[in-house]
Amino acid sequence: MKILILGAGGREHTFAYKLAQSPKCSQLFVAPGNAGTAEIAENIDLKVTDFKAIKDFVLKEKIEMLVVGPEDPLVEGITDFFAEDEALKQVKVIGPSKRGALLEGSKERAKEFMAIHKIPTAAYESFTEKSLEAGKKFLETLKPPYVLKADGLAAGKGVLILNDLEEAKQELQNMLAEKKFGAASAKVVIEEFLDGIELSVFVLTDGKNYKILPTAKDYKRIGEGDTGLNTGGMGAISPVPFVDDELMGKIEERIVKTTVKGLQEENIDYKGFIFIGLIKVDNEPYVIEYNVRMGDPETEVVLPRIKSDLVDIFEKVSEGKLNEASLELDERTSATVMLVSEGYPEAYEKSKEITGFDKVEGSIVFHAGTKNEGGKIVTSGGRVIAVTSFGKDYKEALKKSYQNAEKLHFDKMYYRKDLGFDLS
Ligand code: AMP
Ligand code: GLY
Repeated sequence: MKILILGAGGREHTFAYKLAQSPKCSQLFVAPGNAGTAEIAENIDLKVTDFKAIKDFVLKEKIEMLVVGPEDPLVEGITDFFAEDEALKQVKVIGPSKRGALLEGSKERAKEFMAIHKIPTAAYESFTEKSLEAGKKFLETLKPPYVLKADGLAAGKGVLILNDLEEAKQELQNMLAEKKFGAASAKVVIEEFLDGIELSVFVLTDGKNYKILPTAKDYKRIGEGDTGLNTGGMGAISPVPFVDDELMGKIEERIVKTTVKGLQEENIDYKGFIFIGLIKVDNEPYVIEYNVRMGDPETEVVLPRIKSDLVDIFEKVSEGKLNEASLELDERTSATVMLVSEGYPEAYEKSKEITGFDKVEGSIVFHAGTKNEGGKIVTSGGRVIAVTSFGKDYKEALKKSYQNAEKLHFDKMYYRKDLGFDLS
């Protein structure tokens, strides 16, 4: 089978790594990819939202499976674009339809979906510029901290958590009236603050059947002790050590089953991943967000733990027979450490040569923001490399990743040295 993966990060390198292991994969392409994917697949210089160019390439190469990494093409409707095109409709697309992708594309839609299907989540109300004053009044009825969420996609920056009521009112005004996040903040969801510890559950579904993949926890803040600005993720651990059978049982019954059933009841075509961001409050799980794709860097710890053939599983997803797929997992813990460019998530320098790949032993190196420049591998993004390792527990896995992180080098390299600090 000829497969095309869309995307360019550590998540997509991990997909490429896993799909390339399958005897069913005859040729693998990644668009646009990075220096890591170029080593195991062929990179194609395409924009992930340029559907016309993707179509031309898929037809020219007779691609049979399309795996969509990031959310943008899903929210823009790439799955529907394939399903509605006579020449493309037999391609197996892994990623939900536009209606499914709205669970990530609109926070208000996600909250409505949870309300309709009785999925536990924080209480909320949503507001527009017209109802700005009502929004301010609503804030007065809540206790701090105040949680404000831009409705649309805002590159991970659309959530504000504020302690001061006046500041929260001002930010609500900035979002609604001053369009702080552009069209993404034309609507704002204000919700109750949930005080607890976060974890993520990943589900693969064909819209009817589902498989729960390994849990993971990522570290979003740039600084040690979970301080400083939010990033895409500075590292991750799988499984989440504090998730016991009782909590997992509640998550499956109250959240996973109700979500998949909700999709079915609303006739939403959903063949892909559901990444459920949760907060555990006194051993009770609440949904804080849905994403309609895998996480990054969570993919770098979740996929290496799947022993089964991923092409086989994806085929079953596409055929609506996921119940027939087997999902065998590696029981060990995996951990990944993200090496980033100093300055990230704000301004940083690029084109720094990365060395030391040949010295790494016992870890898997996934590339994120890297490219090949005149035969050298150089940095091309904020998040540069994810170093994944296995261990009997998260401490052992992290230790190995840290040992190998030290062998890699680029000018102004930074990584968090305290991952897992909150778990012991
Ligand atoms: P989101 O983009 O919805 O994942 O939100 C970003 C981050 O804000 C989450 O990872 C949480 O740390 C935090 N967050 C979002 N909603 C809430 C909430 N209702 N209560 C507490 N923290 C929240
Ligand atoms: N690591 C968080 C995300 O992929 O959204």
